[in-house]
Amino acid sequence: MDLKPNPYSGHFKAIGLKTLLSKRRFIFVACASLLLLSITCFSTFLRYTESPTPPPPPVTETPEVVESVEKPTEVPVDPYGPKTVLKGDPTVSFRDNLLPNVNYITSWVSAGWTNDVMTYMNLIYLGLITDRVPVLPEFIPSHIGGHVPPIPFGEVFDVPRLRTELQKPVLEWWEVKQHGSGQFDDLGCWNIWQSVQYREPYPRPSRIPNDLKLDISYTQAPTWVKLIPDYEHDQHSLFSSLATLAFPTMREKSLVPPLPSPQHNVSLPPDEHMLCYDYLYYVCSHQPFELEYDYSPAWRYVGQFMHFTPKLEQLADEYVRRAFGLPSDAPVPAFISVHIRHYDFETWCGEVPIYDCFAPLPVINRRVQEARDEIYTRTGHVIKHVMVTSDERNATWWQEVAQLGWFTPDHSSTKDTYGDWYPVLIDAVIQSQGVGFVGTDRSTMSIIAAKRTESWQAGPTRLVLWGEPGADDH
Ligand SMILES: *[C@@H]1O[C@H](CO)[C@@H](O)[C@H](O)[C@H]1NC(C)=O
Ligand SMILES: *[C@@H]1O[C@H](CO)[C@@H](O)[C@H](O)[C@H]1NC(C)=O
Repeated sequence: MDLKPNPYSGHFKAIGLKTLLSKRRFIFVACASLLLLSITCFSTFLRYTESPTPPPPPVTETPEVVESVEKPTEVPVDPYGPKTVLKGDPTVSFRDNLLPNVNYITSWVSAGWTNDVMTYMNLIYLGLITDRVPVLPEFIPSHIGGHVPPIPFGEVFDVPRLRTELQKPVLEWWEVKQHGSGQFDDLGCWNIWQSVQYREPYPRPSRIPNDLKLDISYTQAPTWVKLIPDYEHDQHSLFSSLATLAFPTMREKSLVPPLPSPQHNVSLPPDEHMLCYDYLYYVCSHQPFELEYDYSPAWRYVGQFMHFTPKLEQLADEYVRRAFGLPSDAPVPAFISVHIRHYDFETWCGEVPIYDCFAPLPVINRRVQEARDEIYTRTGHVIKHVMVTSDERNATWWQEVAQLGWFTPDHSSTKDTYGDWYPVLIDAVIQSQGVGFVGTDRSTMSIIAAKRTESWQAGPTRLVLWGEPGADDH
C-alpha cells in the first residue's frame, strides 16, 4: 500500500535547488584527455618518423603499436562512473568484477514503486555515511502486475547526473553482474526485518535476490537496531545504527549463527566487501517517516539529486502539451500539479463512506487557490493551468474536474505504446514539474512529489487532509 501510516500533515519549507553540476571538472577531464591524446599521437608520430624503416603491416603489429592505435578512440572517463569502481564489463559472477580496494553496499526492495524509490534513496544515503559504493537493483512491478518485467533504476532516474551531483560513484547491478547470468553467487547479508517487527519470523522477502541469482545467508541484526524497543507498531531503524554494522568492531560483536542459504545451504557471516541489508525502507535519522520534513538527510543528500531521465521528462512534457491541446513544439505553460489518491486508501476510511472520507473537489480547489496565491505573491505570475493525476475511475468525478477547467494526462494508450510502467512514471514526472503542488495527505507519492516541487521548482505545496467530512477545514 502506497501509504505512510502517520497522520501528520506536512508543512514544507522550500529548499533551494543546489546546482552542484561540476561543469569545471568535466572540462578539466576533457582537456586532460585531449592533452594525453595529443601526446600519444605525437610520440607515435615521432617513433614513425625517426624510424628509418616504415612501420610493420597491421598483421605483425607489436602490442606497443596496437596500444597507440587504440588510444585515440578512448572517451574521457566519468570520474564517478563504473570504470573507476569496477574491473570492467559485467561478469557472470559478481565478485569477479569487484575491485579489492573499493567497498560496496546493496539492498532489496519489496513495496510499491514510490516506497521503493525511497528505499533506494536510503540505500544511497547509507552508502554515503559508510563510504561504500551503492549498487542498485531494478524496480520490481509489485503494484504494476506480476507479469510486467522489472525496469532498471537508470531507465527512470538520470544516474550520470546523480553521480555528478553527489560527486560519488553509484552503480546498478546490471553493470556489476551480467543480466540473465544463471550463476548463483553466495552472499552473507544482515537481516534487519526480524529485529524490527514481530509478525514475520524471517528476513524481509523480496524477489530481487532471485532475479540477481544471489544465494543469501542471513545474519539477524542485533535487536538494538530497532528505534522504538519492543514497540510492535513501528519498524524503523536509525541510519547510524545500521552504519555501525558496516565497520569491523560492531560487526564482530554482533555476529550470531547465520541462516543457511536457500540454494547452496551455505552459512555465511555478513559480507564485508558487498555489504547488504534485507530491507531499508524503514530507516530514519531521527523519527519514523521523516522524509517529508525539511531536515530529512535522505532527501537533502540524495533524493533531491535523483532527477528523472531527460527522456522521461520530455515524454511527460508531451503528455502535458497534449492535455492542454498545444502543438508538439509549443512551450509548456507553467501549471499547478494535483495528485488525488483514492482507491489505495479506501481501507483506511473504515465506516466512513468513500466520498465522505476523501476531500471533495471544492476542498481541493481551495488548496489549489492557496498555492496559486502564494505563487502570485512570490513571483507576480498568475498560474491558470492545473494538471490532475489520480487513480479515480468515477466518470462523474472526472466531469467535475473538467468543469473546474482542470486537465489530466490521457493514458488511454500509454501502456500499449510505452509499457505498463509508464502511466505511473509519467504521472510522477508531471507531479514534479508543476510550479506548485497539491497532493493527498499520507500518500508517499504525494509526499515525494511535494519534496520535488520544493527542491526543483521552489514551488509551494499543500497536502489535503482526509478521513471524514471537513477533515481539511482550516
Ligand atoms: C544443510 O547443511 C547442514 C549442515 O552442513 C546439514 O546438516 C543439513 O542437512 C543441510 N540441509 C540440506 C537441506 O541439505
Ligand atoms: C462518483 O463521484 C460523485 C462525486 O464526484 C459521487 O457523488 C458519486 O456517488 C460517485 N459514484 C459512484 C458510483 O461511486
